[in-house]
Amino acid sequence: MAQLLITGGAGFIGSHTCLVLLQEGHSLIVLDNYSNSSPVALERVAALAELSFSANGERERLELVQGNIGDRECLEQLFNTACKRGKPIEAVIHFAGLKAVGESVREPLRYWNVNLTGTGCLLAAMDSHSCRTLVFSSSATLYGYPDTTPIPETAPIQPINPYGHSKAAVEQLLHDLAASDPNQWRIACLRYFNPVGAHPSGTIGEDPLGRPNNLFPFVSQVAVGRRESLQVFGGDWPTRDGTCIRDYIHVMDLAEGHRSALECLFAEPAQVLTLNLGSGQGASVLEVVQAFEQASGRKVPYEVVGRRDGDAAITIADPASALHRLGWRTQRTLDDICLDGWAWQSANPSGYGDLG
Ligand code: WQD
Repeated sequence: MAQLLITGGAGFIGSHTCLVLLQEGHSLIVLDNYSNSSPVALERVAALAELSFSANGERERLELVQGNIGDRECLEQLFNTACKRGKPIEAVIHFAGLKAVGESVREPLRYWNVNLTGTGCLLAAMDSHSCRTLVFSSSATLYGYPDTTPIPETAPIQPINPYGHSKAAVEQLLHDLAASDPNQWRIACLRYFNPVGAHPSGTIGEDPLGRPNNLFPFVSQVAVGRRESLQVFGGDWPTRDGTCIRDYIHVMDLAEGHRSALECLFAEPAQVLTLNLGSGQGASVLEVVQAFEQASGRKVPYEVVGRRDGDAAITIADPASALHRLGWRTQRTLDDICLDGWAWQSANPSGYGDLG
């Protein structure tokens, strides 16, 4: 099993992926600045993974380091220490970054700096330590307004906001880097559609900072009584019920997709693999509300208001490439997503802030 560096590993997708990787037997160093996450998530991941402690009280296979991907000294120390221990970092899964579309429009400089410059700093450190295997957290946002749906990886890259542009720019950087050093870099760019839900234990889940931008955590917070009601952004879209349709993917399916991508990179020669991670199925806003009410037994009051800037009517993945290249496809349904999401939210009404 490998020594891995997981940037942003305390976040929603990162924490669930850390659990899957620990259960696979890997050893993890998690670098996170906790700007939009909590170290409590990783303590719970350690418990779920049933990690043991050595005689001197050190926990096996999971080390937490607080820091920024743009801090070169911090990265140098990370890689050097791992090397000195005789367990050099063999691959990186890179989640750390900013990901709120609306915020990216208001703060483009911060988004470009963290998402692009920060990733450049990470890549320089990897390269100087001959660590050239990377799984990159990309996003379906880079497709912008899709010309067709379901969307294949060959669809035009036409982002419509600074967040999407920054993800597309990192993908371009990764291609340029791989081309500059042939037969060296093994890279997977994973384009997530709409990650939602939680681990079925109800002990880890999505815990957005402040008012959620995204539908699923907002619905979840209304159901648990943290928010009054949901605003549905538009009821006049050209869809079966007038509300937008998205490809919601269970976060555990997504985590398993990262494990499969890493296995593929370790097994195959140098390449840049670009894959959509989605279910290939669509659900409307009102269908999500209904499924969540069914799963939670709670009402989710809503009002239909005007459309939100930047929204597209329908965004669904064509997931064929991930099945072909990784043998991976989603296993969990929208009902599973809502049941597991409710297990988390009902047990943690205020997220990780509840119990510390
Ligand atoms: C889903 C649908 C809204 C909130 C975004 C990012 C994407 C990815 C996933 C990072 C839309 C509607 C939402 C609300 C609503 N993140 N909605 N009321 O916009 O598809 O994708 O998150 O990679 O990059 O763009 O997800 O959950 O914000 O919206 O009606 O309070 O729910 O209009 O149709 P989106 P979302």
